[in-house]
Amino acid sequence: MVYQHIPVMCNEMITYLACRPGGCVVDCTLGGAGHSSAILEKIRPDGMLVAIDQDADAISNAEQVLKPLGASVRLIHDNYVNLPNILSQLNISRVDGIIADLGLSYNQIENSGRGFSFLRSEPLDMRMNVHAGMTAADIVNSAAVDDLETIFKTFGEERWAARIARRIVAERSVRKIDNSLQLAGIVCDAIPGKSAGQRKKHPATRVFMALRIAVNRELEVLEAFIADAVGFLNPGGRICILSFHSLEDRIVKQQFRALEGRCTCPRDFPECICNPQPVIRLINRKVVRPTAAEIQKNPMARSACLRVAEKI
Ligand SMILES: C[S@@+](CC[C@H](N)C(=O)[O-])C[C@H]1O[C@@H](n2cnc3c(N)ncnc32)[C@H](O)[C@@H]1O
Repeated sequence: MVYQHIPVMCNEMITYLACRPGGCVVDCTLGGAGHSSAILEKIRPDGMLVAIDQDADAISNAEQVLKPLGASVRLIHDNYVNLPNILSQLNISRVDGIIADLGLSYNQIENSGRGFSFLRSEPLDMRMNVHAGMTAADIVNSAAVDDLETIFKTFGEERWAARIARRIVAERSVRKIDNSLQLAGIVCDAIPGKSAGQRKKHPATRVFMALRIAVNRELEVLEAFIADAVGFLNPGGRICILSFHSLEDRIVKQQFRALEGRCTCPRDFPECICNPQPVIRLINRKVVRPTAAEIQKNPMARSACLRVAEKI
């Protein structure tokens, strides 16, 4: 089944990306190819789009979605952290624009059958790339109690991280935890009843998000990617990063600040030793948020944060 979903903040992304016919643009997170399709409309007929996704389903879907648009597209099944290798294999040394729309696609949550949703009974996998790394079940069944607590606390900002970690360790000594509904039930049982009832979101939301971030090493990868990506931009070329989690947005903000030439030395250093050189300028000092109308139409957009920078 071919899918394409409404991309988040698409108008803003395309406006800030400012791509022109003939431009070369990289979409680091192809997903349902919504942003890629909009970029192709702008760079046709001679432009080139490099579209990367670590999920093979997104690549095979995009073969159907983007082919009719008839422009030059390279679909790459890889992690965007490997951007330098990917571009060098394509003999591309500079590009005009780079976008990343972080996190999961609608299709991954709703149809992948990999346990991203706590509302369905699915194997507890959570890998975006099913050929790489540990599954969520591997982590849940083998990590030490302190490590589970750290994952839930750090990536999910889960108040009851310690209780949930202890409950998981107790449950797994009886029966392997390998199903999304089973894990959701354990989390719900571990959170005190009054607190669980007071939550606006499902009580397992934060644990599922934390596990997904850990499984896919999402923050590590983002941290390693930004400076490399900026290095490939032509002067005047832009990078747009859309994040959905405060920790991701913090990484984008801090890395942009450093690349903008702000001192990153610890506050207690008597003088600057990092000698920062400006490589980018920020297009917006403040993060750009979706409009109320977009959030109403697409509630998944509500936590989106867009940051844009331009290569000097
Ligand atoms: C939010 S979706 C992108 C949606 C897309 N912009 C659209 O218009 O449909 C994120 C996509 O990025 C992919 N992804 C996330 N992290 C990645 C990484 N480190 N490398 C490559 N792909 C990644 C996911 O597999 C997912 O398909």
